[in-house]
Amino acid sequence: MSVSGHLSAESKLDWWRSAAIYQVYIRSFADGDGDGIGDLAGVRSKLGYLADLGIDAIWFSPWYPSPMDDGGYDVSDFRGIEPVFGTLADAEATIAEAHALGLRVIIDIVPNHCSDEHRWFQAALAAGPGSPERERFWFRPGRGPDGDEPPNNWPSRFGGSAWTRITEPDGTPGEWFLHLYSSRQPDFNWENAEIRAEFEDILRFWFDRGVDGFRIDVADGLVKDPALPDIALTGDESAYSDQDGLHDIYRSWRKIADSYPGNRILVAEMWLPDMSRAAQYLRKDELNSAFNFDFLVCPWDAARFRDVIEKTLEAHAAVGAPAAWVLSNHDVTRPVTRYGRPGDTGFAFADRLHGTPVDRALGTRRARAAALLAMSLPGGLYTYQGEELGLWEIEDIPSELRQDPVWERTKHVDPGRDGCRVPLPWSGSSSPFGFSPAGAETDPWLPQPAVWSEYTAEAEAANPGSVLELYRAGLKIRAEEPALGDGELAWRGDDDGVLSFTRDPGFACVVNFSVKPVSLPDHEEVLLASGSLVHGLLPPNTAVWLRLR
Ligand code: GLC
Ligand code: MG
Repeated sequence: MSVSGHLSAESKLDWWRSAAIYQVYIRSFADGDGDGIGDLAGVRSKLGYLADLGIDAIWFSPWYPSPMDDGGYDVSDFRGIEPVFGTLADAEATIAEAHALGLRVIIDIVPNHCSDEHRWFQAALAAGPGSPERERFWFRPGRGPDGDEPPNNWPSRFGGSAWTRITEPDGTPGEWFLHLYSSRQPDFNWENAEIRAEFEDILRFWFDRGVDGFRIDVADGLVKDPALPDIALTGDESAYSDQDGLHDIYRSWRKIADSYPGNRILVAEMWLPDMSRAAQYLRKDELNSAFNFDFLVCPWDAARFRDVIEKTLEAHAAVGAPAAWVLSNHDVTRPVTRYGRPGDTGFAFADRLHGTPVDRALGTRRARAAALLAMSLPGGLYTYQGEELGLWEIEDIPSELRQDPVWERTKHVDPGRDGCRVPLPWSGSSSPFGFSPAGAETDPWLPQPAVWSEYTAEAEAANPGSVLELYRAGLKIRAEEPALGDGELAWRGDDDGVLSFTRDPGFACVVNFSVKPVSLPDHEEVLLASGSLVHGLLPPNTAVWLRLR
């Protein structure tokens, strides 16, 4: 079965080196059946919108059956579709329709863990200590005289311990299992050959159905030090992150991807401290690309941005891989909010600055400028749904409606990620803003603010000054300009507070991070600006693209 034929035949082999990829978080994108939750029928109704936006591919966050403890990153069956989203036939139709519009499709794969409702975890609970079923996970006896202390001191990335104790089938307090995320997300044991074979088969299952690639969730975490040693709690994750054994796994995955026609790709999600180590995963027989999170977390400062960009390009050039620039995703505070915090110090999970004052007008100006910067850097680009509407983080979601497990696991210290997952506004003047069909009886699964009436896709499409129109114009130029996408850049000077670079042939981008207007280099034409120029000068918090003479 191959539904991707027409794309693979004509298209550029290295499409992914320059691609603009749009992330769809299905639950919050568009609701076709009116139950208040986004679904594949909703996605299919908006494929035209995505094609008009000027992107090359869609990345779908997990669409598998899931109890939704972690928004679908807790998968109970890797070969199916969550019934709330639709059916396998709906997914196949989505892929085919996207392809017909010239859009490629990347899906999420979650190999580090599954849901506690996955049949293998249920079998492990039932089978008891020492069984082959338990060997698929990390089950260990506890420490202390009664075994009531966790086997080691690893913390969950969602707060609390990374271990949970189970009750054995005979009713006695039993072993503990490892979960780097919530206690409903048991980690697979990748030392076990069965796990390796299973995931290779899952890759084939979806490649056979025409997907063009995978975004690999927690790509750094699959392999653990099998001794499960205590760690120094200084942020050093080396016992369960970036272990050398990962490279072999990804080499075998790359062979599978390359055995399919049409340049299928593998993209890593990894938040690693050392960019040169991260780049090792992008050697030519491993993964195609990896998100650049250093760029995402960078505070609004010219020198800091320049440093991140230089280091990124250098580390990627060393292995011949393109960079992949990201400003937002379903895990982080939206850029308008991040950049609108006074004294912006960049983004860190430990310090979301949730609820502190935001200058939204300033944040929007900066987010617009950052978008033009990201679109014009060498390599690929990821845009998270709603970023193109200039949406901001919704920070006043009532506590009882919060769904992210981070909120409970941190004992209400970290509000979690619901604020960037509020269902999108499409049209109309009141909630559900076209997210659900007219007359739907169920409200969107998270409440939408009333002021979003001015931020619907419909309202923004009619407004030339909107963020949507900036994204459309920028992505269109990006697709047509030979200078943009994959390639190189050359810095122009190093004025304080200004980032300025050229790309051949004949293109320049200037971003003003300073507090004063700055003059522009000699140019033939202004291609696009994130805000109006004033007497030919570039105002603060603004970016411009120029055609050079
Ligand atoms: C990744 C996902 C995040 C999820 C976590 C556990 O970081 O992006 O949403 O919670 O993995 O699967
Ligand atoms: Mg629905």
